[in-house]
Amino acid sequence: MIRFMLVLVTLIFASVLAPVASAPSAARRVVIRPVGNQMNFAVTTFRVRAGEQVRLVFENTATVEAMKHNVVILNDAAAIDRVGIAAISAADQGYIPDDEAILFHTALAGPQETVEVTFTAPSEPGAYPYICTFPGHYVLMRGVMTVTP
Ligand code: CU
Repeated sequence: MIRFMLVLVTLIFASVLAPVASAPSAARRVVIRPVGNQMNFAVTTFRVRAGEQVRLVFENTATVEAMKHNVVILNDAAAIDRVGIAAISAADQGYIPDDEAILFHTALAGPQETVEVTFTAPSEPGAYPYICTFPGHYVLMRGVMTVTP
């Protein structure tokens, strides 16, 4: 009788827990801030797993009006200069030029603003550069998202 009860309790627990266990896990949260009022990201590298959900939050902690920033993730380091330069004349698109190298990006955040973007990490492991495309910032504002298998 005790054994029967144990089996019954186990079955009940299994049925209750199963939906939780199979539910999709929450997105990985990555928070990036600038270094004070400098044109630098405080976080210049972070890791995600291929294909996982990523919630990238950019908190613009700057206090100077000129320090508007975004986070633009590219699929190719060789495209950094091209995208950075094209962004200068893309003010009407929030400094996000039309370029095939751009995978994901946040909106532009003014000082003391927070923006975020949720995306599915690339399925291909590797190094994916990110930059700020506010005019001129890409030269210094750079980081690398590493996608692991
Ligand atoms: Cu910037």
